[in-house]
Amino acid sequence: MSDMKLNRQQEPLLSVRNLCQYFGTTKAVDDVSFDVMQGEVFGLVGESGCGKTTTGRSIIKLYNITSGDIYYKGARIAFGSMARKKEISSLRKRFFGADADEKVRIKKRIAQLKREIRQGKHDHENCDKLFAERKLAEVEEKYQPLLESAYGAELEKIKRDYQHDKDLAKKTRLTTQIQMIFQDPIASLDPRMTVYEIISEGLVIAGEKNKAIIDEKVYKILETVGLVREHASRYPHEFSGGQRQRIGVARAVIMEPELIIADEPVSALDVSIQAQVINLLNRLRKQLGLTVLFIAHDLSVVKYFSDRIGVMYYGHLVELATSDELFRHPLHPYTQSLLSAIPFPDPLYERQRKRIKYDPLEKHDYSVDKPRLREVLPGHFVRCNQQEFECYQKELNAK
Ligand SMILES: Nc1ncnc2c1ncn2[C@@H]1O[C@H](COP(=O)(O)OP(=O)(O)O)[C@@H](O)[C@H]1O
Ligand SMILES: [Mg+2]
Repeated sequence: MSDMKLNRQQEPLLSVRNLCQYFGTTKAVDDVSFDVMQGEVFGLVGESGCGKTTTGRSIIKLYNITSGDIYYKGARIAFGSMARKKEISSLRKRFFGADADEKVRIKKRIAQLKREIRQGKHDHENCDKLFAERKLAEVEEKYQPLLESAYGAELEKIKRDYQHDKDLAKKTRLTTQIQMIFQDPIASLDPRMTVYEIISEGLVIAGEKNKAIIDEKVYKILETVGLVREHASRYPHEFSGGQRQRIGVARAVIMEPELIIADEPVSALDVSIQAQVINLLNRLRKQLGLTVLFIAHDLSVVKYFSDRIGVMYYGHLVELATSDELFRHPLHPYTQSLLSAIPFPDPLYERQRKRIKYDPLEKHDYSVDKPRLREVLPGHFVRCNQQEFECYQKELNAK
């Protein structure tokens, strides 16, 4: 569906690096890294419980992440110290047996890691403040030349707009730039609030006080998502599942975010309604130039929609490639298993289609040689050990 060409030189909009999110002994997300480029749709796929939602919630800072770094437009928005702390403690163990030269190196590295941890914590806590500063600078840049060149009544109007935008910029939060659409449109909409209240809530929290501006935005967004003005005064229970998810989309899009995390936005809907909501998202994406992190539990939904796809299995990212590449050359046995589960509207194919089961113990021997995400072809990553890596390369070269 998307015609976007990936420019590998471009700076990513979102960069997730070695993300770990543990809940006690549950490693919900374990060392996951990927980039989302400006304007692309990145599909994140894997069976229920593999850590997709946790990844999304980590990005919007609903957790203090266990470990790793998340960058948005080059600014670090989330940080967790576990990996660096582990490195420090293993360096300390090595210290006593080390010779003088090595001791110097170890000390230097530990000091470096401690600096990184301090900086990381600082970034994690202050990212909203830094966003607000950036936004404020953008407002200044926009209005300074206007303020200098205008006079009379026009100047007065510009001054008012300038003040309005400045007030909003001061309250800029990460959550105005990254919005999440949730899986369950029933549970995620407060039943006691009207559609108007639900959709306008984010604007109000962001500091918008002008009722006329809020009205205009709410009515416009209702139309944009295929609802009508009259729906504003109603309550969520008066709507069908598909309509409720349109309300969820409106609530996210009204904030004019750059990145939308759509967490299984159609999984709870009837199949007949799913396509409508997918089409809506795709239209909005093009109209508004959105970047989308699209989460789904099977490949059939993301196939046509995504520029690139990341496949997750039990907290790990096991394969990452462009959609075309992933469907043409699926390498990881779990990806192959997911692909084998997609029905095609071709009776001949359907008769031959065999579901491949994925059993990690049978497929890999990681007892000695441990796996990590490796780039098998430019842009095509697979979680594998050295031996598998060589097999995958041979496999691809034979094609
Ligand atoms: N807040 C939480 N506390 C404890 N465990 C959680 C929490 N959220 C998720 N988990 C666990 O983390 C794993 C990943 O969950 P989740 O990210 O919701 O998976 P997915 O969205 O892929 O279905 C699951 O085992 C789930 O039970
Ligand atoms: Mg989920």
